[in-house]
Amino acid sequence: MILVTGGAGYIGSHTVLNFINKGYELVIFDSLENGHIETVNTLKQIGNIHFIKGDLRNLDDVEAIFSNYKIDTVIHFAGFIQVEESVKNPEKYYKNNVLASINLFNTMVQHNIQRVVFSSSAAVYGEPLYTPIDEKHPKKPLNPYGENKSQVEEILKEYDAKYNLKSICLRYFNVAGADLQSRIGEWHEPETHLIPNILKSIFEKDKTFKVFGTDYDTFDGTCIRDYVNVEDLAEAHYLAYMYLKNNNKSDIFNLGTENGSSVKEVFETVEEIAGRKINIEYQERREGDAAILLANASKAKKILKWIPKHTLEDSIKTAYLWEKSKH
Ligand code: UFG
Repeated sequence: MILVTGGAGYIGSHTVLNFINKGYELVIFDSLENGHIETVNTLKQIGNIHFIKGDLRNLDDVEAIFSNYKIDTVIHFAGFIQVEESVKNPEKYYKNNVLASINLFNTMVQHNIQRVVFSSSAAVYGEPLYTPIDEKHPKKPLNPYGENKSQVEEILKEYDAKYNLKSICLRYFNVAGADLQSRIGEWHEPETHLIPNILKSIFEKDKTFKVFGTDYDTFDGTCIRDYVNVEDLAEAHYLAYMYLKNNNKSDIFNLGTENGSSVKEVFETVEEIAGRKINIEYQERREGDAAILLANASKAKKILKWIPKHTLEDSIKTAYLWEKSKH
């Protein structure tokens, strides 16, 4: 069986749904600090899902998973994701994102489980030295969140050498969109991401959308990002799982569309899809935002045979319908 840590969260739940659609039975492990029980219940109605509420920081909780279920592969999403909070409270992030991962990997080794897909991030690169960014770009994270992701990648490298634990690290660029049927979607509290924040300014009274910076060195002055659809991303996890099973080899892949969109282009697309104007407030730059983050994802395309199918418009449409369903 496949274990999905953080399976009640945004990307985790979409990956679970992808595997359910392919007929897999899965175990979700989630502390529900940021994941949602509603998401678990929805997934349980769709497929064969077991749910364990637990904390990876607690070794007994981790041990209980592997004693109770016959797991052959782990897809590890669980972790805190707020960059700003990681700067304010690094200890919380190192304990939850690094120590907890060590607990997980050690217990896997003890139970002779040798495959893990790890949810990494473009945050490992820091300020790009060149774009598009390929996997060979030096790692120089700008904050504890990115540092955590980078450290877990390094730990996995050592665990492969020492314990033969094989891993695929997937470095996501900006993830967007929701399930086509609006059963699950992006649900963070607080919400810091661009597209859900634009949508909230539509659906929530007296909410304006704040643009962080208009003086970047880009064609329209706002930041450029590579928005990859969450269903395409979920499929990449399936391909990574298959790759590990068939090749038994560790590797690292960027996941992005290789297309950049500016903040202005994104909110204009939302305006078109929603058929209305958005209340915009122009603000100063947000600390730590790079001007351009754009993926070179040719390695994932070539080796994993990953083909992202959805456009930014698709992601905004499904995100819009999901947000609407919540109001
Ligand atoms: N933005 C706004 N207003 C908002 C929210 C965001 O203008 O209300 C802007 C940001 O300044 C940025 C862009 O929209 O230019 C995208 O911001 P997000 O917060 O949606 O995403 P980030 O690029 O900051 O973060 C993403 C991932 C992180 C990861 C980071 C670096 O969500 O997990 O990329 O790779 F750490």
